[in-house]
Amino acid sequence: MPHKILLLFAHPSIRRSRVNRALLDAASAVAGVTVHDLYETYPDFAIDVDREQRLLLDHDAIVCQHPLFWYSAPAIVREWQDLVLEHGWAYGRHGRALEGKTWMQAVSTGGREGAYREDGLNRYSIDELLRPFEATAHLCHMVWQRPFVVHATHVAEAAEIDAAADAFRARLVALRDGSPVRVVV
Ligand SMILES: Cc1cc2nc3c(=O)[nH]c(=O)nc-3n(C[C@H](O)[C@H](O)[C@H](O)COP(=O)(O)O)c2cc1C
Repeated sequence: MPHKILLLFAHPSIRRSRVNRALLDAASAVAGVTVHDLYETYPDFAIDVDREQRLLLDHDAIVCQHPLFWYSAPAIVREWQDLVLEHGWAYGRHGRALEGKTWMQAVSTGGREGAYREDGLNRYSIDELLRPFEATAHLCHMVWQRPFVVHATHVAEAAEIDAAADAFRARLVALRDGSPVRVVV
């Protein structure tokens, strides 16, 4: 059975986006992917917890797509985590609702790949910076997937954005079909 994927999308200014918009368009065309735009759905941040939990239960894999903001995610992702991943539901002694589901981050960074190294401008790798998400997935008994990352968005040419969108589409298809993934970051 193909996995049903829930794409949690968070970009506060999609009108100005080049990279995430292209990735989102690619994802929208993949059968089995439900796109859920958090800023569009909750412009006032009034997150409907029951609805979000139902959506999670109805999918096998969660992909959280966003630009990297201050080495983390845009604010609505944190609000979503705070409210939706409830104790006793997602984690804690009786919190097993998400057990066995997959969690994957799909992030874009203004910084170049070389900036995300110990000796680079940002000092830490993307894998290290995403550890809070990885730890959250682990706490919620979910299976962490290597993140999908697009670097150097500010200088990306149209052809590079197209290539990133193709790679994202392939990654989602592999996730949906349970195929082994060759990760290129
Ligand atoms: C508030 C804010 C914070 C940002 N923080 C980071 C950051 O910590 N690291 C980084 O590499 N880029 C950072 N950026 C750049 C964004 O990641 C970049 O603009 C985005 O990936 C571009 O994607 P888009 O074309 O979909 O908008 C930041 C941008 C904004 C507006």
